[in-house]
Amino acid sequence: MKICCIGAGYVGGPTMAMIAKQCPEIAVHVVDLNQSRIDAWNSEKLPVYEPGLYEVVAEARQRNLTFSTRVDDAIAEADMIFISVNTPTKTFGVGAGRAANLEFIEKCARQIARVSTGHKIVVEKSTLPVRTAEAVKRILASAENGATFDVLSNPEFLAEGTAVEDLLNPDRVLIGGESKLAIDALADIYANWIPRERILTTNLWSSELSKLTANAFLAQRVSSINAISALCEATGADVDEVARAIGTDSRIGPKFLKASVGFGGSCFQKDILNLVYLCEHFGLREVAAYWEQVVSMNDYQKRRFAEGIVRTMFNTVSDKKIGVWGFAFKKDTNDTRESAAIYVCRDLLRERARVTIYDPRVSEKQIRADLIASCSDMQGVVSEHDRKLIENNVTIAANAYEAASQSHAIVVMTEWDEFKSLDFAKVYASMQQPAFVFDGRNLLDHDQLAKIGFDIHAIGKSL
Ligand code: NAD
Ligand code: UGA
Repeated sequence: MKICCIGAGYVGGPTMAMIAKQCPEIAVHVVDLNQSRIDAWNSEKLPVYEPGLYEVVAEARQRNLTFSTRVDDAIAEADMIFISVNTPTKTFGVGAGRAANLEFIEKCARQIARVSTGHKIVVEKSTLPVRTAEAVKRILASAENGATFDVLSNPEFLAEGTAVEDLLNPDRVLIGGESKLAIDALADIYANWIPRERILTTNLWSSELSKLTANAFLAQRVSSINAISALCEATGADVDEVARAIGTDSRIGPKFLKASVGFGGSCFQKDILNLVYLCEHFGLREVAAYWEQVVSMNDYQKRRFAEGIVRTMFNTVSDKKIGVWGFAFKKDTNDTRESAAIYVCRDLLRERARVTIYDPRVSEKQIRADLIASCSDMQGVVSEHDRKLIENNVTIAANAYEAASQSHAIVVMTEWDEFKSLDFAKVYASMQQPAFVFDGRNLLDHDQLAKIGFDIHAIGKSL
C-alpha cells in the first residue's frame, strides 16, 4: 500500500512519521511546496522540534518514509492521500478574521482530481469547517480521467510538545466517512498499534465538527480558569489552589486547568473563530456569541498581564530593560504561532520598553518576524514607528541569565523546565532594584524568590 500526505507541517510530518514507523510495509510519501521545509525533513535538523521525533523520523526515513516536493508523482502513486495543509483564519474578503481560509484545501482537491487515475481514498487530516467534505467531494467528482474517490475525515488531536506520545498512544482516533470499505482501510492502518476500541467511527459531519468542538472545549477550560485567575488576584484566593479543589471533582477532572497568560498555538483561536463563523452562518447568534467569549477572555488575559506589568513598575516601563523568558506558545516546541509572548512583548514595546528575549528553541529571525506581524494590519502593513521599535528595542539573549542581566523585570512567558532550576540568587544580583518578576505561567517557586528579595507577581495570586 502507498500513502501520500500533502503538507509537511507540524501535523503532516509527525503523523506520517508515526504511520511509517508502525507500518513498515506501507510506503509513506510526504510532500510539500516548501522546498526548505522538505530539505529540513531530510536533514539532521528537522523543521519541527518535538521530543522523540527525530528518532522516529530517522528510523523510518531509511526504510519507508520519503519527503519531497514531487506532489503530482506522490498523488499519482498513492492509494490513500492525506490532506494536511494549513487552514488559517481568512485575512481578506467575506469572513475575514473569522472564517477558515480553505484555499489550500481546495487547491489540493483540484490537484488530486487532475492527477489521479483509478480509485483513491482522500483523507481530510486538516481541521476543517463542518461540511467541507461536501466541497471536496464535488471537486473530486469533476476528475476527467475516470478516477473515483472516497472521502474520509480523520482529524488530528495531537498536541505540540507531546506529539510523539500522543500519536503513539492517542485517547482515540476518529474516522468519519460514508464508505465502510474506506473507513476500514484507514482503521486497519491505525490498528497496527492502536487498540480497535479506541478507533471511533462516525459520519463525515460529526467527525469534522468533533474536531472544532474538542478544541473549543479545551480552550474554554483555559479561558474559564483564566477568568477565575482575575478574581483570585482581586480577592486573595490562589488560582492553583482553586484549580486543585475543583479538579478533584471527577466530573470536572484535573487536566487543562492551569491558569496562564493566555492560550496560544495555531489552532485554538483559529478553530473557535471558525466555529463562531459557522454558527453565524447558520443564524445561531447566541451560540456564536457564547463561543466568541472564549477568545475575548483570552485577549483580555494577555492584555491584562501586560498592563499589570506597566502598572506595577510605577506606571512606566519606558527605557526599562525587560527580560523575557520564553517565546514559544508552550514548552517543548519551537512553534510560536499565536504565542501570548508575541502580544505581551508588542504591548511592552509600544510602552517603549527595551525587551530582551530568550527562548531555547526559537530563532531570532522567527521572533522578529512574529513581532513585525503582530504590528501589521490585515493587509500586512506595519507602521514605520512600530518597525523602528522592533529594530531598536528588541535584543535576543543567548540564555536566561543574559536576558535577566541589568533588567528591571523578568517576565516568564513559556514554562520551559530549564527556568525552574536557575541560580536565582545570581539572577537577582545581576538585576536592577527593585527586581520584579512576572510569572505568566506560575512556574517558579514564588516563596523562594520572595525570600531572595524579588518583587514577585503571578497569575491568579496576590503575593
Ligand atoms: P503547517 O503550516 O505547519 O503545515 C502545513 C503545510 O502545508 C505547509 O508546510 C505548507 O507549505 C503546506 N502546503 C499548503 N498548501 C499546499 C499544497 N497545495 N501542496 C503542498 N503543500 C502545501 O500546519 P500544521 O500545524 O501542520 O496544521 C495543518 C492542519 O492540521 C491545520 O488544519 C491545523 O488546524 C490542523 N492541526 C494542527 C495541529 C498542530 O498541533 N499544529 C494539531 C491538530 C490539527
Ligand atoms: C491543542 C489541543 O490540545 C490538541 O488536542 C489539538 O490537536 C491541537 O490544539 C490542534 O488542533 O492544533 P496545542 O495547541 O498543540 O494542542 O497545545 P495545548 O497543550 O492544547 O496548549 C494550547 C495552549 O493552551 C498553550 O498556549 C498552553 O500553554 C495553553 N494552556 C493549556 C494553558 O494555558 N493552560 C492549560 O491548562 C492548558
